[in-house]
Amino acid sequence: MKYTRKEFFIKTIQGAAVIAMPTLLTSVLESCNNNLNGPNSPGAALSNVQGTLANGNVTVNIDSSSPIAKTGTAALVNFSNGTVLVDHPSNNSFNALSSICTHQGCQINSYDSGNSQFVCNCHGSRFDVNGNVVQGPAGSPLQKYATQVLNNQLIIKVG
Ligand code: FES
Repeated sequence: MKYTRKEFFIKTIQGAAVIAMPTLLTSVLESCNNNLNGPNSPGAALSNVQGTLANGNVTVNIDSSSPIAKTGTAALVNFSNGTVLVDHPSNNSFNALSSICTHQGCQINSYDSGNSQFVCNCHGSRFDVNGNVVQGPAGSPLQKYATQVLNNQLIIKVG
């Protein structure tokens, strides 16, 4: 079969595209994967802890049986109206943050204990234990709630 110069050019471009496509596709997928996980690890899934909501306060057991009893731990506290991120940086000191990512509203449920950061695995945003953005795409901090420790109970003021 004889091709015109134009047909030959088109066939050559089509052939090159078929050969280059797998490499291009792999590159795009790797790029997407990096965006999902961010440059650091995605963190470990948080333990779930049950809390009780009453009068605008969520009460959580923090005795020795609790996943957040030890310093350096973090958890996702579930209660009737929602969830709150909690970490335990030092004795009798807790941080409590909104668990709803300020980027597009995903539930944050991972914690990078090495960097003390909460990680949203939807698009890789990272927040420090005070809720400040460490890495976007989120542009706003997480809401922080006041906490109090009373008799092996953590009280989080969400109301
Ligand atoms: S919704 Fe959390 S990073 Fe996009």
